[in-house]
Amino acid sequence: AMALRFSANLSWLIHLMAGRVPQGVERAAVAGEMEATFIENLRHAADVLAQEDMVGLVEPINSRITDPRYFLNTPHQAAAILEKVGRPNLRLQLDLFHCQIMDGNLSRNLETYLPLIGHIQIAQVPGRHEPDSPGELNFPYIFKLLESLGYTGYVGCEYAPKGDTIEGLGWLRSYWESKGMKPGGPRKATE
Ligand SMILES: *[C@@H]1O[C@H](CO)[C@@H](O)[C@H](O)[C@H]1NC(C)=O
Repeated sequence: AMALRFSANLSWLIHLMAGRVPQGVERAAVAGEMEATFIENLRHAADVLAQEDMVGLVEPINSRITDPRYFLNTPHQAAAILEKVGRPNLRLQLDLFHCQIMDGNLSRNLETYLPLIGHIQIAQVPGRHEPDSPGELNFPYIFKLLESLGYTGYVGCEYAPKGDTIEGLGWLRSYWESKGMKPGGPRKATE
């Protein structure tokens, strides 16, 4: 079993990518070999990163729309690989856009994999725009869920703004308001 002690706030995080199934090759024919290579590379990277107190992240990317040949596609596959790699400074980067497209079931997936998660990314589905743009995901609910689960890491905005980036942050202003925070968000006690 992996050690799960972790503080996202004290660490530098870096995304370690899985690579793609080669063109013209069946995924199933190379999956075993690709996984073995990925595991070996992750162990190497984890040991290098550990010397700098850094954390490596693996991110499942959807193969249905965005990247059909990407090797790492679901949180289950990522969790199984992290388990096999067995390094405490590797974590799951869960992009909810990809997770919704591949697997849905976001509440249960977040609950189940929370101990593995080092970074979360958000975008509405299917447009990949702001979280409050029209789409399948209910982000006010998801943000509450992350709070109730005790998630303390960052949430990255991995979306293409529909228009102006700053104007598109209305969802964040609404979130702050819902928490009784002033515009500009949380302040440290010393500020
Ligand atoms: C939902 O996700 C959980 C956690 O990954 C899993 O155990 C469960 O089987 C999933 N449910 C469905 C219907 O896929």
